[in-house]
Amino acid sequence: METYFFMKKTTLYLALISLLIFSCKKDAPKGSAEHIESVTSQVDDQKLSNPQDSPNDWMSYGLNYSEDRFSPLEQINQSNVNQLGLAWSTDLGTNRGIEATPLVVDGIMFLSGPWSVVYAMDTRTGKILWTYDPQVPKQTAIKVCCDVVNRGVAMYKGNIFVGTLDGRLISIKASTGKENWSVITVDTSKAYTITGAPRVYDGKVIIGNSGADLGVRGYVTAYNAEDGKEVWRFYTVPGDPSKPFESKAMENAAKTWKGEWWKLGGGGTAWDGFAYDKDLGYVYIGTGNGSPWNREVRSPGGGDNLYLSSIVAVDVKTGEYKWHYQTTPGETWDYTAVQQLILADINIAGKDRKVIMQAPKNGFFYVLDRQSGELLNANPYTYVNWATHVDMKTGRPVETPFSRYEKFNMQIAPSPIGGHNWQAMAYNPVTKLVYIPSREMSYLYGNRKDFKYDPKTWNTASEIDEKKETKEDKKAQKVLGRLIAWDPALGKEVWRSEGASFWDAGVLTTKELVFQGNAMGMFSAYEAKTGKKVWSYDLKSGIVAPPITYMVDGEQYITVAVGWGGVMGQYAKFTESIQPGRIFTFKINGKAKMPALIQEEKKTLLDVPVTGSPSQVAHGQQLFMKLCDACHNLAGGGTIPNLTYSKPEIIGMIEDIVKKGIFVPKGMPSFGDRVSSQDVKDIQQYIYSEAAKKKK
Ligand code: HEC
Repeated sequence: METYFFMKKTTLYLALISLLIFSCKKDAPKGSAEHIESVTSQVDDQKLSNPQDSPNDWMSYGLNYSEDRFSPLEQINQSNVNQLGLAWSTDLGTNRGIEATPLVVDGIMFLSGPWSVVYAMDTRTGKILWTYDPQVPKQTAIKVCCDVVNRGVAMYKGNIFVGTLDGRLISIKASTGKENWSVITVDTSKAYTITGAPRVYDGKVIIGNSGADLGVRGYVTAYNAEDGKEVWRFYTVPGDPSKPFESKAMENAAKTWKGEWWKLGGGGTAWDGFAYDKDLGYVYIGTGNGSPWNREVRSPGGGDNLYLSSIVAVDVKTGEYKWHYQTTPGETWDYTAVQQLILADINIAGKDRKVIMQAPKNGFFYVLDRQSGELLNANPYTYVNWATHVDMKTGRPVETPFSRYEKFNMQIAPSPIGGHNWQAMAYNPVTKLVYIPSREMSYLYGNRKDFKYDPKTWNTASEIDEKKETKEDKKAQKVLGRLIAWDPALGKEVWRSEGASFWDAGVLTTKELVFQGNAMGMFSAYEAKTGKKVWSYDLKSGIVAPPITYMVDGEQYITVAVGWGGVMGQYAKFTESIQPGRIFTFKINGKAKMPALIQEEKKTLLDVPVTGSPSQVAHGQQLFMKLCDACHNLAGGGTIPNLTYSKPEIIGMIEDIVKKGIFVPKGMPSFGDRVSSQDVKDIQQYIYSEAAKKKK
């Protein structure tokens, strides 16, 4: 009796204590470590598999495993979107490109910025809760094709995962910003970098890499989310065939290559698009371009060069190959197929199909059966002249006769930045349309037979012979950006809205609306059905990242990260000034004011007499184009300075900057092992001569 009573009492106490703990947890102040721990630790496979049950949150890069970026929230809709105002903005104090899609759970936001720095923020206040800086060595910038950006983080069971520019994958505790574990995912002696967002599928963190422009071999690795142990690795292109193949898939792929491609890297880096079909257990990988770009050089004598520019399905448990579809066989134009992959269930010709969709760089929009890889339709979503169409019988593009620029320089569309790049598209199951931030643009390709592989720099073998670009070529380069609404069932455009530039931002869609920022700093909403612009807000600095939406304490918010940059943004700008990296959050009747604008220093053109000979200047130009031009554009200039407007004393000490690396802390890499003192003097003379030309 006593024991019984005692037990009863203990049970009662226990129940009371747990109730107390539970209610404490529940009442932990929003934004406190306990609150963050409690809401982020609930993000598990169950929750990620059922996004319809968490419409208020944005838990993974593309919103869900299907990566459709369609939010069912509809408090902000066509009838009130014109009342959207700023709720708050926060300055990140950065000055390079921000491409990130933030993640949000119960109002706690996680996002990545330049140099792979991770921020946790409270969306209720806009306050930064913690910052995690992985301390990427700034010299890493020398390996980077396209700015020191990072597109996002992953969230799983109380932890945040980030891939760093120098090739690490790091697990961070969501509540504190403290590191749990870190693994090196790449051979750091090579030009590998990571800019893409990790994904978590089935308890594994999936991460790819970049570097196919600089001579590496691509692959995707899955790590155990708990401890960072490698589970599987899928190479996207074959290695040295004299060594054992890693898999049957690599053995098959090697049959489609010629020459000694593995010495040049091969390429195929998977740096952006992934998706996951949980029912099939398939991870979909979008693969990159060839390295070098020019197939004549990479695989002399031809071949499809699998699995370049492909969508590849692999088993989530083992990384084993399931099927592939190659968008650009024998890739030779930098036509990556890493662009975002979207899964959807749509009716095509009277049949319900489970599809995977992509608008890769090559200009065709592909709809495939995601179980079998069968091609369902493929039509151009922008101006294309490398192929006339895709043959639906063979699934292969029909190339135009001169598209491979073997004998002549050829003006080919799309350009290497693609009809569509990493700027996310979105699929709206209500309008049944895909919204693609796209562009029309061509590029003059040339066959560099004198190409020599240099593991330290760009390896395209497709640059034209210097200055052979004619005025007609320049005129032929139509350059414009546009937002396109695409009907994937019919394979055709439904509406278009001309953009501000060829480097506008990624999109978000809700039932009635599409949101997109542009290079001029305008953040706009369009009617999803018609493309009519219904709202705009001037954020005063170019936008490249896609917006997100979420609900906190009963109110719907829209957030967009602004930080002009990326491959084109570090090079050119479209606004008067470039503002620091900022997070802007909107709500209905938001009344916050725009932050004060930072004025750029007035610039004066360099005025130093050219003392070098014309051949020195020409040599300087050659070196500049090879080593410096990807960051420093002397015609315009974006986030990285146009050197013809630098101070004379700065260009006067160019040798210390370029060879000794005194500006490495600012992100200007040292070229000490690549150029001689004379080379630097020639570059200096070239900069003076370009400035002098502008004076005239
Ligand atoms: C990966 C990108 C990158 C490359 C490639 C690059 N730079 Fe830089 N450079 C930078 C950055 C970033 C800065 C610092 C900008 C700042 O002050 O915020 C910089 C600054 C400079 C400056 C100082 C400019 C000023 O007005 O303060 C000079 C001079 C310069 N670079 C020369 C060169 C030369 C010459 C090359 C080629 C040999 C080169 N850079 C290649 C990124 C690059």
